[in-house]
Amino acid sequence: MVKRWMAHILFLLFVTGIECIPRKFPSDFKFGVGTSAYQIEGAWTEDHKSESIWEHYIHSNPKVIADGSNADVACDSYHKYEEDVEMLKNLGVDHYRFSISWPRILPNGTANHVNQNGVQYYRNLIKLLKKNKIEPMVTLYHWDLPQVLQEQGGFASEKLVKWFTDYARLCFKLFGKDVKTWITFNEPKQICLFGYGLGVFAPALNKSGELDYLCAYNLLKAHAEAWHIYNNEFRPHQKGRISMVVEFSWHEPLLPDVPAFEEAAISNLEFMAGIYVNPLYRGDWPEIVKAKVAHNSRKEGKDRSRLPEFSTEEINQIKGTCDFLAVNFYTSFLVYPSVTPQPEMYSARDAGVSSYQPWYWEEAKSVWLKVTPWGFKRLLKYLKDTYDNPEIIITENGISDGGELDDDLRISYMQQHLNAILEAIWEYGVNVSGYTVWSLMDSFEWLDGYQSRFGLYHVDFSDPRRQRTMKASARYYKDIIKNRSLDK
Ligand code: NOJ
Repeated sequence: MVKRWMAHILFLLFVTGIECIPRKFPSDFKFGVGTSAYQIEGAWTEDHKSESIWEHYIHSNPKVIADGSNADVACDSYHKYEEDVEMLKNLGVDHYRFSISWPRILPNGTANHVNQNGVQYYRNLIKLLKKNKIEPMVTLYHWDLPQVLQEQGGFASEKLVKWFTDYARLCFKLFGKDVKTWITFNEPKQICLFGYGLGVFAPALNKSGELDYLCAYNLLKAHAEAWHIYNNEFRPHQKGRISMVVEFSWHEPLLPDVPAFEEAAISNLEFMAGIYVNPLYRGDWPEIVKAKVAHNSRKEGKDRSRLPEFSTEEINQIKGTCDFLAVNFYTSFLVYPSVTPQPEMYSARDAGVSSYQPWYWEEAKSVWLKVTPWGFKRLLKYLKDTYDNPEIIITENGISDGGELDDDLRISYMQQHLNAILEAIWEYGVNVSGYTVWSLMDSFEWLDGYQSRFGLYHVDFSDPRRQRTMKASARYYKDIIKNRSLDK
């Protein structure tokens, strides 16, 4: 009798799928970790590097950083990259995502003077990675524009396209023999909305609903042009791939199945992420974004939309410039239609929504980050359905704490998010081919300074040698990489 009951239970588990989700990753799945130049390198004036917009911003407004710090020395990776590679080797990662500092390579911003010292630094790093069979995944722009270019308009200027593509072409030429995965821009929302709309990130301009859209317009054209340069001039012999990293939060309707709430959630998703991704797949802004900005612009008495319009030629140029979908995921929001969105957030006003995170969601050290692996799984399914089942690489995922060595919170976050990926792959058939933990080590966390720590390795910022120490999460990740599975 008992046996029959057990058979029933097993059968039920089987048909409900509970037993069906393998805990193993596909055999060609890749594991990595990430960092960015400004957050780790330091050596901010060394060997002819020029000032970036973040250095300029923080040096002139030290109070904007929570702990009054800056990244002048950061993890000192400019001098300690060999130790960084030792850490990567110890973890056993397949790839290392890092960024090139534009003002280190081109101190004047433009390609008429190449700083050989800067070039040598990246050559050394890439050579060492290759020697250790770690694939470099290189971001060309992770927020550190040369200040000289900001003084000529930065991302609000159409000259951005030429500046960026000259820089990109140079990097393909210099490093493309060994670099097979390129990222043009990291997180355009943070560059444009935070930097030109809300004025909280460098260059701290706040003309939301205008400059942020103009920034997005120039950025997308620069990305597309760089993609074509790679595709035509370098891909044939270098045989790599190139994309742009977009940060996606999941936007969940506060009241599911209520059309106005469902529409609010989609609207937020499109204003925050679709605005950058839709053009890559379809050539143009999402319809809902075009319609809402045009409607609001008319109400304000303007004769044309605040959102720049892509010409047919531009649409054809931008469409299809994405070899894989590069996704940063950290958190989720509950969304509801709103009549009084925050007035300073123009794009939220255009979206016509508000969002929040309930107090009972598990918290990180960063105020915006709450633990929502369920949102990750839903996002992955949404991306598969919306963009025609693209290859997806998770280019960032991680959590901040106070820097503890026994970082249980990080272990549980990684476990839950990797599990969400496994479920998305095996249940929904989402094509996720890689995962990148943010971050290899504690580093300069923008407005939070060194208060919020994302590292698998602890860095002692009070020690001039910037000693690195493995955290429990690093050992946990190392095991996962070794076993290619969430099981031991
Ligand atoms: C995304 C950014 O790319 C990275 O620079 C930052 O440190 C992490 N998010 C955490 O905020």
